[in-house]
Amino acid sequence: MNADIQSIIARMTLEEKAALSIGASAWTTTPVERLGVPAMLVADGPHGIRRQPDVHMMGAQSLPATCFPTASCSASTWDAGLLGQLGAAIAEEAIALNVDVVLGPGVNMKRSPLGGRNFEYFSEDPYLAGELAVSFVNGVQSKGVGTSLKHYAANNQEFQRFSISAEVDERTLREIYLPAFERAVKEAQPWTVMCSYNKVNGVFASEHHTLLTEILKDEWGFEGLVVSDWGAVRDRVAALRGGLDWEMPGPQARRVQAVVDAVRAGAVAEAALDEAVRRILRIVFMAQQTPKGGAFDVDAHHALARKIAAEGMVLLKNAGDLLPLQGHRRIAVIGRAAQDAHFQGGGSSHINPTRVDVPFQELRSRADGAELTYAEGYPADDALRPDLMDEAVGLAQAADVALLILALPAYKESEGYDRTDLDLTAQQVALIQAVAKVQPKTVVVLNNGAPVAMSAWIDAVPAVLEGWMMGQAGGAALADLLFGQATPCGKLAETFPLKLADTPAHLNWPGGAGVVRYGEGLFIGYRYYDAKQMPVLFPFGHGLSYTTFAYSNPRASAQTFRDVDGLTVTVDVTNTGHMAGKEIVQVYVHDRASGLVRPEKELKGFAKVALEPGETRSVAVKLDFRAFAYWHPEYRRWITEDGEFDILIGASAADIRHTLAVKLDSTLDLPCILDRESTIREWMADPRGKAAFGPFYAQMEEHTRKLFGGADGGIGIDIMDMMGDMPLVSVLMWQQDVLPVHPEDLVAGLLAQVQRV
Ligand code: BGC
Repeated sequence: MNADIQSIIARMTLEEKAALSIGASAWTTTPVERLGVPAMLVADGPHGIRRQPDVHMMGAQSLPATCFPTASCSASTWDAGLLGQLGAAIAEEAIALNVDVVLGPGVNMKRSPLGGRNFEYFSEDPYLAGELAVSFVNGVQSKGVGTSLKHYAANNQEFQRFSISAEVDERTLREIYLPAFERAVKEAQPWTVMCSYNKVNGVFASEHHTLLTEILKDEWGFEGLVVSDWGAVRDRVAALRGGLDWEMPGPQARRVQAVVDAVRAGAVAEAALDEAVRRILRIVFMAQQTPKGGAFDVDAHHALARKIAAEGMVLLKNAGDLLPLQGHRRIAVIGRAAQDAHFQGGGSSHINPTRVDVPFQELRSRADGAELTYAEGYPADDALRPDLMDEAVGLAQAADVALLILALPAYKESEGYDRTDLDLTAQQVALIQAVAKVQPKTVVVLNNGAPVAMSAWIDAVPAVLEGWMMGQAGGAALADLLFGQATPCGKLAETFPLKLADTPAHLNWPGGAGVVRYGEGLFIGYRYYDAKQMPVLFPFGHGLSYTTFAYSNPRASAQTFRDVDGLTVTVDVTNTGHMAGKEIVQVYVHDRASGLVRPEKELKGFAKVALEPGETRSVAVKLDFRAFAYWHPEYRRWITEDGEFDILIGASAADIRHTLAVKLDSTLDLPCILDRESTIREWMADPRGKAAFGPFYAQMEEHTRKLFGGADGGIGIDIMDMMGDMPLVSVLMWQQDVLPVHPEDLVAGLLAQVQRV
């Protein structure tokens, strides 16, 4: 195929190549009929197919497709296999709907719970997001359909998303914002990567040579094409130079001409355009190999959507084992969302579902003789409605149990704008409080895409189930869980904070004057709350079950290990309750001492295990080089350091059951990074520096102490403590009279020596 592509490129005119580098419509590539190059069709999105009936329409009612749970929900399954099945099912629908590439998954980090698109993203943790993305991409692509990994990169808010510059340091990019992309590219080779709208450190992502060419293509080995987010390109020629292969949407005659002119004028090399064309043609022909059309199995996919929803919903609280509901004669179901299911978010991921399970009907059909009553509870808008509240309270009082099903309305949460607070509506909060006052057995079910604050009401209710934007079969999944036909097994892929002011990006959100500063650096999500030793509402990784699990016999494959060999950590998990269930075992790594500050702990592995009552299984998690490494901005690479690490095995970030101490031997032979500004402490900490400068240390100390009046000199400190953090050259400047050469020459000589070694 490569040879054919090269010969097609050789026969294409400059105009044809420029045209191919920009879409022909909102969703298609430009065909080159005379050379047998067909058009390729793409469609949103991460949770199902949003196929427009007309390729020139952007947001018309799309063709029916299964609406699967949104990413917050599917990620809370922590089940990579299930994400693979989800991907495969979406691909089958793509094939039936003549779609070549699905625009998803979204793997951006949830920097703040306010992010309007958080419901489309997996997690606040790069390892978890990366794992899930690999499976999703492999699932879709195993069927011969492409994916688009998006939005690359640092696109973590909606405020000024088309223009704002995310100011983020290199280490934070490498350790937090890029790894999910990196993993998916290296392990699953998505056919396409979608660049984001925003700027990263002052440069549009669509033009970002470092991100698109140096890191994505050259370093990670990305073989597919880079597509712009829809409307992200400002300057097509600059984008071409940066490494953006395909601009969307089209047509854009003026920009095609701009590319032609730029090549003719030598402003961009024709080879750069040829490379973009080569990447596009490769994917166009790959897509053509999958025959399209036919039907998909609507029922089977609905059933899969239900399974994912049931596994992704998270039981946050269940005091007195109120859930599952058993033996109640009268159940008051309260809340609009019980009748008008809130199962997806607004924007480009919005799907026209094949059918929708209505929670109230599903509950009624499973209620086993119980009488179900219904009250609306809150209106569709943000009005306060005491009449709806009174009606709901009346029903709750007359029932044995009250079930509140509350959805965060779309005006609060959607693509295109961020939330301004973490709260439910005022009516919803008042409703929970009023119902809980008359009905001690109150269960709150939430439908939302991102954390909400609960402090105003959580202590008043015994049970809370996070139902997310649960997909079209979420109503049935809800009934499965509430009546115990399924056991909750989801865990949070993001921290639920106590209040907005506690959140990591609070002081740097959402930015302004064209800039948002990622001032919290590495410390987003649980990394922040750990570092601040701050209480949270529900920690990362939290989720209850109807059964209980015990962890025992933790072990590591070695006590001392080399970074290149990695380590396998094993623990036995026992179902100690009376119902079958699944547990998600999490493995975090803590570096006891490091050259640069590191998070208190980081997730580096996990496993989900199904257990019958009384059953025990061993769960093994492999930790590789990267589990122990961090990005060093001076070496500009991932490094490991010799030393002790703790391996924390837990049921959540705040529920660590066992800790294993291990010792790492780094196999790295790092170059010397001492320079003219290096401090005395840095010289002595570096093995080469110590070898070169060490022999002179005693002499320098003696002179320094003399200069400052001896051991108990006149300035009230141990002078060598102060000198430790001064550049060697600065200290030596005071000792010129006793040195054989000028200090600057002396340090230059030492540097030449250490850099040679
Ligand atoms: C969104 C993308 C989406 C594209 C096409 C953009 O506005 O940011 O996620 O894939 O539109 O609908």
